[in-house]
This record gives sequence, C-alpha cells and structure tokens, in this order.
Amino acid sequence: MMRIGALELRSNLFLSPLAGYTNLPFRLTLREVGGLDLATTDLVNARSLLERNAKAFKLIETRSADRPLAVQLFGSVPEEMRDAAAYLETAGYSAVDINMGCPVRKVCRVGGGSAMMTELAATAALVKGMVNAVKIPITAKMRLGWDDENLTAPDLARALEDVGVAAIFVHGRTREQGFGGTVNLPGIRAVVAAVRSIPVIGNGDVISPEAAKLMLEQTGCAGVSIGRGAFYNPWIFRHTRQYLETGELPPEPAFEERVRVMRPRAGFRGASARDVPPSGVNGGSVRRGARLPAVSQSGAVVCEAIRPGQRIQPARGAGFEPGGVPRNSGRLSPLAAAIS
Ligand SMILES: Cc1cc2nc3c(=O)[nH]c(=O)nc-3n(C[C@H](O)[C@H](O)[C@H](O)COP(=O)(O)O)c2cc1C
Repeated sequence: MMRIGALELRSNLFLSPLAGYTNLPFRLTLREVGGLDLATTDLVNARSLLERNAKAFKLIETRSADRPLAVQLFGSVPEEMRDAAAYLETAGYSAVDINMGCPVRKVCRVGGGSAMMTELAATAALVKGMVNAVKIPITAKMRLGWDDENLTAPDLARALEDVGVAAIFVHGRTREQGFGGTVNLPGIRAVVAAVRSIPVIGNGDVISPEAAKLMLEQTGCAGVSIGRGAFYNPWIFRHTRQYLETGELPPEPAFEERVRVMRPRAGFRGASARDVPPSGVNGGSVRRGARLPAVSQSGAVVCEAIRPGQRIQPARGAGFEPGGVPRNSGRLSPLAAAIS
C-alpha cells in the first residue's frame, strides 16, 4: 500500500497523536475496527524516557496486537533525542516520530514542538543524529510554520529529507492558528511539492471519508492522518479505506456492532461487563446522559481513553456544531455527549 522507510504499510491512513487520548486501549479498539496500520503514541519527553520515568513508560505501553507503532518524542537536546530513539529501536518499536508541531508553551520554551520549525539548521542537525543512530524510520510531524509570515514547513521538510527523514506528517495550520480557522490544503500541497521522494501525510480536520479523499486529491499527499475524527468515529479508518477503494460510503455501524466494539476486553482498565447497564443497551437506543462508562454510542470512549470532565478540542467543519457536537448526534453520538 505504501512505505515509510523500510516499513511496508497496509494502509495510508494514520492515527495522529492526541496527548491524553491515543493510548493503548484506544489504539487497540481502532485496530480491531480496522483500516488503520501505523499508529503513534502521545508525545513523550525524550529525557523522561531515558530517566525511566514511570509516566513516560506508561505512554509507550504497547503489546503485539498494537503494531506497527511509532513513539512520538519531543525534546531539543540532540543527544537525548538520539539516545531515546536508540532505546525505542532496541525495545522493538516500529518507528520514531518527532514532535515539531506542538504549540504548548511548556514544550516550545525548551526548544521543542513548534519552536523546532524556527531553527532549520539546528533541527536538521538534531534529526540527522537520530537517523544515523537507528535503522527504524524517523519521521517528523510539523505544522505549516510558526505563523503566516513564517511558513517554514516546505523548507524544513526538504532539509529533513536531506538528512534522512522517512516521512513528513503535516498539520495544515500554523502554530499561531492553534486550532482556529480551517485547514490550509494549499499549504500542505506546498510541502508535498517541496520534497523529492519521501511521503508527505496530510493532517487536519478530517472527520469523514469524503474529507480524507478531498485532502488526498487537493494536496497530492501520500496519506492522511486523523486525530479527533477517530475519537468521534472509530470506524473512520475502515470506512475511508472502503470509500477510497470502491467510491461507496459504507453504512454506519449497527448498534450491536457499536456495543460489541465497546465491550471491555482483556487488559482494558476501567470498564467491565457490569459497567454496561441494561438500560444502556435496551431496545437499540442509548439514552443521552445515561451513565454509560463503557458505552458511548459512538464507540469512541473506551474505558480509560477519556477522563471524566475532559474535553478535547473540537474539530470545526462539516457535521459539527460549535462545541464539537455532531449534527447527526442522534445516530452517531459525539464525544461531547459521552463526557457530559
Ligand atoms: C487534545 C489534543 C492533543 C494533541 N496531542 C498531540 C501530540 O501529543 N503530538 C502531536 O504531534 N500533535 C498533537 N495534537 C495535534 C493532532 O495530532 C493533530 O495534528 C490535530 O488535532 C489536527 O488533526 P485532527 O483535526 O485530525 O485532530 C493534539 C491535538 C489535540 C486536540
């Protein structure tokens, strides 16, 4: 289907890291539903990993059914990034992704995340050190640039290709934009045009198979990475693959299928069969607002994948009301309803 370095992938659809959400139970659920191959962990501090910090190890928790898996590292100290990548290779991970897009001040202040997009030479040198230290693919995830005046992604992507990066993931927004406005498809296209041969994977606001197709067509990107859309609808990868292959939109999953996917399984924490109240599965409808720790209608909220009271930044665009509530919430219930 497509290659990233030596990795042969069965899908050109990827899971974008959503810190706090794209954990092992969530990834296993998505993999069981299908359509996804390479997934990525939440961002992990390279230094914490080297210090064997328990929280960092929790973030890279995995198992054989959770392959292929990339770990996303952040950090700005070349030796730490290199040594963390070498450790991950020894530990059997499939790839290492470098966070160059995180807008959070805590990450940027120390030269990581989006700040890496402002220092092309230093970033390329850091990445070169990582590439030379391992055989597994090193990839980079970036935004379009720091702000509209500094759209550095094309130059950075090319510089990183020159030092051996195997693929570029690009979120079509600037750091300044945060999650506002709409995703800039011509901006992603410029990154595709800038590299010679490595795959560029587009990202941002893909919440339907049609949106994925549009991104592929309008940017020429080799694949699409989906973050929030996977949370709203874990079937998005399978449905998008089918749509890309056949041109037909599969029907929404039946209620029984949703419940089956949401049922607890070995290794899942926080939910068990007794957590699924009979009222929740009664007559094929799930009452909104009912206490359903394991059944969220959409299937997205699986056990520990969500912490009560938390919200993730809603994707704007087709199908969503402000606040992240899908207009079709009667059929495919939103994350927002599940955590309200
Ligand atoms: C709650 C949340 C956490 C995120 N955590 C990360 C992260 O750890 N690493 C990263 O590279 N991007 C992170 N992102 C950005 C996403 O990977 C992605 O680029 C962005 O959400 C746009 O894609 P989407 O519209 O498909 O969600 C995060 C986004 C959100 C909303």
